[in-house]
Amino acid sequence: MADTEPDPPPPVRLWGGRFESGPAEALARLSVSVQFDWRLAPYDLLASAAHARVLHTAGLLSDAELARLCGALDQLGRACQEGRFRPAASDEDVHTALERGLLEQAGSLGGKLRAGRSRNDQIATDLRLYLRDHARLVTSRLAELEDALIGQAERHLGTAAPGLTHLQHAQPVLLAHHLLAHVQAFSRDASRLRDWDKRAAVSPLGAGALAGSSLAIDPEAVAAELGFESAAENSMDAVSDRDFAAEFCFAAALLGVHLSRLGEEVVLWSSHEFGWVEIDDAYATGSSIMPQKKNPDVAELARGKAGRLIGGLTGLLTTLKGLPLTYNRDLQEDKEPVFDAVDTLLVVLPAMAGLVGSLRFHTARLGATAAAGHALATDLAELLVRRGTPFRDAHEVVGHLVVWCQVHDCELGEVSDDDLAKISPLLTPDVREVLTVDGALAARASRGGTAPIRVAEQLARLRLAVEEQAAWASG
Ligand code: ARG
Repeated sequence: MADTEPDPPPPVRLWGGRFESGPAEALARLSVSVQFDWRLAPYDLLASAAHARVLHTAGLLSDAELARLCGALDQLGRACQEGRFRPAASDEDVHTALERGLLEQAGSLGGKLRAGRSRNDQIATDLRLYLRDHARLVTSRLAELEDALIGQAERHLGTAAPGLTHLQHAQPVLLAHHLLAHVQAFSRDASRLRDWDKRAAVSPLGAGALAGSSLAIDPEAVAAELGFESAAENSMDAVSDRDFAAEFCFAAALLGVHLSRLGEEVVLWSSHEFGWVEIDDAYATGSSIMPQKKNPDVAELARGKAGRLIGGLTGLLTTLKGLPLTYNRDLQEDKEPVFDAVDTLLVVLPAMAGLVGSLRFHTARLGATAAAGHALATDLAELLVRRGTPFRDAHEVVGHLVVWCQVHDCELGEVSDDDLAKISPLLTPDVREVLTVDGALAARASRGGTAPIRVAEQLARLRLAVEEQAAWASG
């Protein structure tokens, strides 16, 4: 009838030939992955164009066919980008959707592209391409956070702060030293992603379903075209290996753990009890009932999101455990954890960079409490050691002095000459010369120590390292 819609074309399936019936609704619902793997479309198209060229080199496509196929892939890429081509409900996965699109553009010629490859080597390739790109994106955002921390450290090269162990006052440190400790961890995360990239730079294409191909296609040529260092040495490993995904999730989870430590510290520092820092309004939230509240939600979300990053890694490892070679459909479960890791980091990192960059430290309070809790006691004990007392005895003597100060509610330097002498003859009046925060800081000039001179050197090295990371990420 003229006013009824024509029947929709039958769904494209990549494996329909030997089946008499279509898939059950429940199977289709279970196995569909296009709702999350569609983001791989640009990479799948890239790999398809590279594959077309090796088919051509192998004499399996004529010049004209290659030109038409590449043109059609180009058109399809543009249509995807502009949203004119979208996956349909009936498309099983990104490969199915793109084959449908290619057949629409190039007609039956599109079917020639299937020669010599399988979705098994295709999906492994797509995911590696996606992740290698996004590892760089994550590293760029990470470098911005490191920059923000380094900027604060530079502003606070002269700010003393309490150094804590067990969350108790321990020894004074430079605030810059503390901030740079976080940068050290983040910088290892960045170099971990870079190391990961070396192992991820292996192309699975050419493995076919699992055993390689009888066609004269050159896996090394596709690998080079796609920016990989080499083609896989073992086709069975190529289609079953997901180490690259698990290792990426580990790097992301550890970065998440590092972000959670920084988040936790900002939460503590901004509390009334610590009073170390003021969060900028742009990076704080209010309460719907308590008008006075200013909450550190960015830091809390950074802390909280470590949970899903660790969960993604744990889930993926559990999926991979015990899988027989080679491809099994379980492997389709590899994508959501890595996508979620990327998405999570790409929202957390910029927010943390903004938060950190706009923190205002209460330097007077930090300085005034830097030596609180008798935090110069170690300096005094080490002075006695330099004068020849065994550390064990020095520790004991200074311990007595600390108790004396606690009982009399005073600081180490406030004890009179007579009282010092009563506690121990080793405590001569001149021991007070080491009881200053500046002196204690300057004295810790060993490698890695908190002395201003060491911290300035550390800062300069980290600046270079972060510049290098950023250059790698954008190169
Ligand atoms: N969507 C599939 C995945 O993500 C693609 C590979 C399918 N291969 C297969 N033999 N069914 O793993």
